[in-house]
Amino acid sequence: MWKDRYKIGVERIDEQHRELFQRVEEFLKATNDPQRTWEDKIEKVKETMNFMGEYVHYHFDDEEKLQEELGYPNIEDHKKAHEKFKKGIEEYIEKLENENYSEELVQEFGGKIMTWLIMHVGDVDQKIGDYVTKEREDC
Ligand SMILES: [Fe+2]
Repeated sequence: MWKDRYKIGVERIDEQHRELFQRVEEFLKATNDPQRTWEDKIEKVKETMNFMGEYVHYHFDDEEKLQEELGYPNIEDHKKAHEKFKKGIEEYIEKLENENYSEELVQEFGGKIMTWLIMHVGDVDQKIGDYVTKEREDC
């Protein structure tokens, strides 16, 4: 699901984005695999939620640091989008636990996170990439 055109031209951020796509892809594959038992799928869900809960903070901090270094003008809006997403992840972690990892909620989460990733990395983050390119050209 990762596409080279999602690159923003800063290697460490591109690597982190690629990692996020890979994890989400694995999650979707595992939770939709008819060969796997539901117990087995839940293990994957828990693993993904643990990973997301931590990695997203690490990645967003890094991406925000980059925007600060660049003097990126839309940083405040971008930070808001990150905050919203972090909250969303936390809510899903809680909800999934409370609802004992119901299949319906797991599927809902899978769809949402994939959509968000495509929208955010494929659009919002691209504006950082445009800015990086422009700055490099001006140098
Ligand atoms: Fe971002």
